[in-house]
Amino acid sequence: MNRIGFVGWRGMVGSVLMERMRAEDDFAHISEPVFFSTSQQGELGPDVGGGAQPLRDARDLNALAEMDAIVTCQGGEYTSEVFAPLRARGWKGYWIDAASTLRMAADSTIVLDPVNRDVIEQALAAGKRDFIGGNCTVSLMLMAVGDLLRRDLVDWVSAMTYQAASGAGARNMRELLLQMGALRDAVADELADPYSAILDIDRKVIETMRGADFPDQLFTVPLAGSLIPWIDKALDNGQSREEWKGSVESNKILGREGNPIPIDGTCVRIGSMRCHSQGLTIKLKHDLPIDEVADMLGGANDWVRLVPNERERTIAELSPTAVTGKLDIAVGRLRKMNLGPEYLSVFTVGDQLLWGAAEPLRRMLALLLT
Ligand code: HSE
Repeated sequence: MNRIGFVGWRGMVGSVLMERMRAEDDFAHISEPVFFSTSQQGELGPDVGGGAQPLRDARDLNALAEMDAIVTCQGGEYTSEVFAPLRARGWKGYWIDAASTLRMAADSTIVLDPVNRDVIEQALAAGKRDFIGGNCTVSLMLMAVGDLLRRDLVDWVSAMTYQAASGAGARNMRELLLQMGALRDAVADELADPYSAILDIDRKVIETMRGADFPDQLFTVPLAGSLIPWIDKALDNGQSREEWKGSVESNKILGREGNPIPIDGTCVRIGSMRCHSQGLTIKLKHDLPIDEVADMLGGANDWVRLVPNERERTIAELSPTAVTGKLDIAVGRLRKMNLGPEYLSVFTVGDQLLWGAAEPLRRMLALLLT
């Protein structure tokens, strides 16, 4: 393992991956990092320690085939275009990918090593070579409560999500801010006047949101001041594809495809920038003392940060504002529900670009390099 190719390293997820790799000094373990581009081949790439080299063509199969491993954050279209032809010509390297294209393929493994290191090790031992990052919401949920599922303590999970604009892409984050600005600008005069009537402000705000000029080209509807209870395509069964992923990907990550735990819920886009939050209802197989559950969740991995179920701590620590940019998986609002002693309520917040996207890929590469 010495030649590692990077594709899509300049996009949003790719940039977070690069930041994390630099922060952890991962490039010290790579003798030949090779940076590819789909549009700027020949220009100088980044200097990650050994001097900047010209970018290579990300569609050049001969160049890609020289790599021992390829890490791509370029997106699903690129994967669809390049992966099969590369394998068809006999390339045996490791393919580490953030896109969803190959996640459910029989030969691929979804990587989230704090949760499924055993599944990853088995895949490596079996000679598998395709390691794919999970859906962000799924990875963040399993980082938070996956241990309960691994221990086979759970009958089912209902996940109601509050997903950030970043999940839709970098341009959508900008659009969210433009929407926020447009709303504020529409009532700037009234806001400056403490005696203006709030119902007049509200009327102007909603007129602006419903107006033809409102900046919603990407989301297609207002997100600022509103929400969007649908993420990704529609399936035939009434679920959105994002909701479907919650179940199939979680069970694949846990190696439970043959004996899946039902997981379902409603996935909702809200106006946060890059943290996904989830309200989970967990039906346990047996009544367990809440302290025992808290100990299990808190001890599951190094990143879970339990927030006591107290108002002040919760509003200060269990929010996108508190968690953004951190590897912490904040878990709180933990309590038994009055539905019965087997019903747990949990709220969790995680950075969609870190554990939700870049970090599992970084760690998979690190696993191969050590
Ligand atoms: N599909 C997710 C979302 C992001 O739209 O928020 C990527 O996993």
